[in-house]
Amino acid sequence: MRLYFLRHGIAEDLASSDFARELTARGKRRVETSAAVMQALGIRPQRIYSSPRLRSRQTAEIVAQALGMDVDLAESVNFGFDLAGLRRLSADCGPDAEIMFVGHNPDMSYIVSELTGVTVAMKKGGLARVDANAVEADAGELVWLIAPKVFDALAEDEQTGIPPAPAQKLPDTDAGLHELIRHRWSPVGFDRERPIKRDTLLGLLEAARWAASSSNLQPWRFIVARREDETEFAKLLSVLREGNVPWAQHAAVLMVACSRKFRQENVPNRHAGHDLGLAVGQMVLQALSQGIYVHQMGGFFPDKARELYGIPDDFEPFTCIAFGYRSAELGHLAEAQRGRDASARERHPLSEMVFSGGWAQVADFLD
Ligand SMILES: Cc1cc2nc3c(=O)[nH]c(=O)nc-3n(C[C@H](O)[C@H](O)[C@H](O)COP(=O)(O)O)c2cc1C
Repeated sequence: MRLYFLRHGIAEDLASSDFARELTARGKRRVETSAAVMQALGIRPQRIYSSPRLRSRQTAEIVAQALGMDVDLAESVNFGFDLAGLRRLSADCGPDAEIMFVGHNPDMSYIVSELTGVTVAMKKGGLARVDANAVEADAGELVWLIAPKVFDALAEDEQTGIPPAPAQKLPDTDAGLHELIRHRWSPVGFDRERPIKRDTLLGLLEAARWAASSSNLQPWRFIVARREDETEFAKLLSVLREGNVPWAQHAAVLMVACSRKFRQENVPNRHAGHDLGLAVGQMVLQALSQGIYVHQMGGFFPDKARELYGIPDDFEPFTCIAFGYRSAELGHLAEAQRGRDASARERHPLSEMVFSGGWAQVADFLD
């Protein structure tokens, strides 16, 4: 059996009871980072058991969401978790089973030590893998132990792959969509502490640059502000409509996306908006392939952008765009906005948008 032992993330010191202690905002963010790395590493337990204490449950839920699973609460994993409890929970598992347990210290450290004969110190948010043929003292092998700092470092190199969308954001379709399309959605929760590295940002812009365009005119232009440059970031933020500011201010990068409206002097380019959209679409998918989410915005003041940035008359500022790593921490947002990340994604049926033979004649191959 492959057994994973995860100690809960950083929690608040005080609450109405020990049972009710929640993960702190930093604790949640760190577990999210770890969960993304676990997903990228291909960690796929068949079950996740968690202690019912809130900090442990929250940790397990963040991991389960990243891995597309559910959590089973188990009293055995609460304080006092031991080999007898582990034996009970794994009794019906075959030799190839993979199970994750999310709980507390000192029990997590003790149980790993007992199974493997190795003294270990599990940090908050640390994860140990033990392979064992039997749930007996010294019957297991400590394959690895990942400290939270190592998770952070692994996430840093940004090879964490496509972050899985929460269940409610997955498209309700049987079509075999590409994973990048299946898992794309527009969050309002961004991690304000995780910047987008320069090379990664250049990759996003290259993705736009290599889009197709009418007559290869490449009419798109992007005004870019990175969070690291506080003045420029604040300037771009000032262009957004009020409704977008509370969440977009946490993005790592903001852009104004413009397109040239003319093919040449006095000859309009009817495809200016189309081609910009295509370039942005490529950027969106390139971004998600590196764990970065994109939220586009029509809610901004084009005239203000024009004035602030000196955008020439033959260019149209079409949208603003927010880029960043996602955070499930939405405490800074109003209730209505928080609900957006929890809501399902909906679309009109193909029959409303795919015609054949004439306008509004539903294509017969849709049946
Ligand atoms: C051109 C454009 C303008 C948008 N404007 C805003 C906006 O101003 N504020 C906002 O919160 N979302 C905005 N969105 C995001 C859409 O609401 C979102 O894409 C849509 O609801 C579908 O959700 P999904 O992207 O999660 O599939 C915009 C998206 C696009 C493409």
